[in-house]
Amino acid sequence: MYACGKYCSPRRCGFYIIAFLICQLVFIVIFMRSDRYDDIYASELLAYKNVSYLDWRAFISQTPETTEDYYQYNIELSNALGLIRKLPVTRHSSCTTRNPILPPPLEANVSVVISFHNEARSMLLRTIVSLLLRTPEDHLHELILVDDGSQRDVTLLDDLKRWMGGVFGSRQRLGLIFLRNEERMGMIWSRNRGASLASGRYVLFLDSHCEVNDGWLEPLLERLAGNANLAVSPLLDPIDPTTLSYRKGNEMLKGGFDWSLHFHWLKRQLASGERLEMPYQSPAFAGGVLMMSRDWFLRLGSFNPYLKIWGGESIELAIKLWLCGGQIEIVPCSRIGHIFRRRHAFDFPSQFDQQLSPAQEIYLHNSKIIAESWLDEYKNMFYALRPAARRIPLEHTYDELQRMRTERQCHPFDWYLRHVSPELRMHFDELSATGTLRNEDRCVHARHKDSQLILASCYLSDITQWSLLRQSGQLSTHREFCLTVGFGMRIALEPCGRNETARRSQRWMRLGTRLMHAETHLCLDNPLKERLEMSTCRSHAVSQSFQFALEMEGRT
Ligand SMILES: *[C@@H]1O[C@H](CO)[C@@H](O)[C@H](O)[C@H]1NC(C)=O
Ligand SMILES: *[C@@H]1O[C@H](CO)[C@@H](O)[C@H](O)[C@H]1NC(C)=O
Ligand SMILES: *[C@@H]1O[C@H](CO)[C@@H](O)[C@H](O)[C@H]1NC(C)=O
Repeated sequence: MYACGKYCSPRRCGFYIIAFLICQLVFIVIFMRSDRYDDIYASELLAYKNVSYLDWRAFISQTPETTEDYYQYNIELSNALGLIRKLPVTRHSSCTTRNPILPPPLEANVSVVISFHNEARSMLLRTIVSLLLRTPEDHLHELILVDDGSQRDVTLLDDLKRWMGGVFGSRQRLGLIFLRNEERMGMIWSRNRGASLASGRYVLFLDSHCEVNDGWLEPLLERLAGNANLAVSPLLDPIDPTTLSYRKGNEMLKGGFDWSLHFHWLKRQLASGERLEMPYQSPAFAGGVLMMSRDWFLRLGSFNPYLKIWGGESIELAIKLWLCGGQIEIVPCSRIGHIFRRRHAFDFPSQFDQQLSPAQEIYLHNSKIIAESWLDEYKNMFYALRPAARRIPLEHTYDELQRMRTERQCHPFDWYLRHVSPELRMHFDELSATGTLRNEDRCVHARHKDSQLILASCYLSDITQWSLLRQSGQLSTHREFCLTVGFGMRIALEPCGRNETARRSQRWMRLGTRLMHAETHLCLDNPLKERLEMSTCRSHAVSQSFQFALEMEGRT
């Protein structure tokens, strides 16, 4: 369009405007058609299942908040979409050609636990209705809904009870349990409470902003029937928070975490003869949707009840499962749509440490518990990368945290590195030193906004964590920027090079505690205590002494 202002004739401009209007018209027609189509689809489906629409529009009109900012997704569109919509088939065609072999419902049924906090009514309803209509009735034992202290919609649970009684009341066999925490207890507590009341053979934890796709349950049940200690995740198809469009999830990803105990997607490697749609092992769950034997879940101690509110619980469960005799699989023939929100819609309780946000504080608290209870000597790695965690108080002893491990005779964490997550181990083996980089009382920090190198307090909550790589000698931030010496002996950050040429100028060597740039033979220096420069290496110069938070033992 920018061309119009300056360069084009009025006739061309007219053309652009008409083209634009036609586009709009086509869009509106498509939108209306698909809306109507979904409506017909929904009423047919509901009639077939002998349930009526009832007054669901009245039900969702009670939604107290209507801003997109509050829910982190397009609430108007969510309200307009209706109770259920047709979803694209995202799984491989071979998933439908073969009927899964299932044990009888008495032996293989599921209790679904959905915990929610300030969720929009239309979104929650679509989660529930898609679940009830796309799950074989005999295998769905019960539905447990936990309202975790939603603040602005206090009648939600009662309304829901009434609505579901009217619509699904004829389903004799389906157990319905409604729970409400008057005060917010957090997702971890709520899910544990739901699971403790469940009576099905398996328990599935589902988020409240999902849409299950056709045939989602059968492939999961089939896998679980074959292995009592297995836990499974469906493959999550992303639903866009703005357009609510439903896309195909990626079968080449598995769940994992880094040494800061942050969740990461890892690349799946296909073995020869392995097909994309086959179930595959994963070091951690793919998000928060998971299913396993209820009994096994309880024996493992549920989600660790020492963890607060939200964060880290599925990583903790994953480590615990693997180390204590279980396994995790992702099953691509099972698809559940899920909204990945841009940031947490949660409000956390108030903070006591000025330098950390409340959310960071809770996340660190939970990560520290995981490190202390499961990581053994590798916890030093976590503390090197998250020094602020050292100052976070825990309310119980480490013996308590480790007791279950001893009772269950779980493997040491080293076993996890060797057998489950070679990626994490590789990262560890590649390092010669890591963590904050300190000179006297300050640390070298790469500012996010302009990538400038500065010296800052070592307790800054996002203080840069450096990694000195053993092989290449590169000194890298976790954002994969490497320290280099450029034109005029200026110290700079640039994207870490992958080939020899690019790496040569990014190579550093250790001379005691000094850092020497391999190409120029100059040392990193802080002579004026405020700005880094390069200068001739001098032994015993305090201004040239830089310490990493963690040196890998027994290595040079
Ligand atoms: C729905 O209800 C009608 C009678 O009201 C009954 O004939 C029909 O079999 C029911 N359909 C299903 C799928 O239960
Ligand atoms: C579900 O499974 C449990 C435990 O195996 C069993 O006690 C219960 O009767 C089953 N429910 C249904 C509806 O089959
Ligand atoms: C090496 O990588 C740099 C950028 O990182 C690139 O400019 C250069 O062309 C590459 N050289 C070779 C030989 O691939």
